[in-house]
Amino acid sequence: SADPAQDPSVPGRTFRTVGVIGLGTMGAGIVEVFARHGFDVIGVDVDTEGVDRGRQHLENSTGRAVSRGKLGEDEQAELLGRVRYATDIADLAGADLVVEAVVESLEVKKGIFRALEQVVAPGAVLATNTSSLSVTEISTANAHPGRVIGIHFFNPAPVQGLVEVVRTVVTEPAVLEDVTGLVRSLGKNPVVCGDKAGFIANTLLFGYLNHAVSMFEQRYATREDIDAAMRFGCGYPMGPLALVDLIGLDTTYEILETMYRQGRDRLHAPTPILKQMVTAGMLGRKSGRGFYTYEAPDSPRTV
Ligand code: 3HC
Repeated sequence: SADPAQDPSVPGRTFRTVGVIGLGTMGAGIVEVFARHGFDVIGVDVDTEGVDRGRQHLENSTGRAVSRGKLGEDEQAELLGRVRYATDIADLAGADLVVEAVVESLEVKKGIFRALEQVVAPGAVLATNTSSLSVTEISTANAHPGRVIGIHFFNPAPVQGLVEVVRTVVTEPAVLEDVTGLVRSLGKNPVVCGDKAGFIANTLLFGYLNHAVSMFEQRYATREDIDAAMRFGCGYPMGPLALVDLIGLDTTYEILETMYRQGRDRLHAPTPILKQMVTAGMLGRKSGRGFYTYEAPDSPRTV
């Protein structure tokens, strides 16, 4: 057939309704990006607690934009009105695109891509926001792996201008073309790469972050001085330890561990203190404490 809704190899699909699965830091940010650009969004999380957390995140983030005069109150209400929430994947039946942003667990992600098979139209695009797992492996859980692609946002998703579009050896060229066009329509810059743990940006970034954590562990310099060096010496918007707090120590650990397992590059062997801090519940901004302490979880202001 020549209908992109039925056949993933047909280009020119229009994306109107976007499902986002997993409403943590990244998922909620991705919901915001699509809702800001006029898409109807269905946000899914496993339970009402997860949904409430996602809704709260979106209200806080758009509320900050209102208080800074970047968004009108009526615009905020319209934006929030474009988002529906659900706790069942079956509610994504009408989605043209689904973006999965759950925990970095291959088993959990594969379960979702398997379940989506029964839910969405055959031509709907299924994307994963994974930062280090294999998009190819995730795609094999679906009967139409040609429509599976990586769409990797950066934290905070509403702010960062980059989206990595990850194609596997079986991703349909039509899907790649439609997705890069979509990313541009969100005001983001798409870069295209193959399916290797870390993709472009994280492969380069996480060796650096890991090295900074190791310097901190060795008490070579204070956290403030490590961060100041990169901000004021190299023009980075934030220092590496503050950035690990933003990304989450748990996520940082998982990404390093996966890259290390795949590439065996010592640069990516997670610094031991990372695991210790994660075990102690010091996850960064989202738990209120990491290398720094935060007023409220997710608050962009350090104390
Ligand atoms: N959600 C939505 N908007 C946010 C936000 C958030 N969490 N945090 C900041 N913003 C917005 C602010 O509202 C503000 O918007 P405005 O310019 O329209 O008023 C703008 O971003 C700038 O914020 P601030 O003035 O508060 O602070 P800064 O200018 O210091 O910017 C920052 C904060 C955007 C976080 C900046 O420091 C930065 O870009 N840091 C580097 C972040 C980075 O490297 N991210 C990539 C991490 S790796 C990754 O995500 C990959 C994954 O796989 C782990």
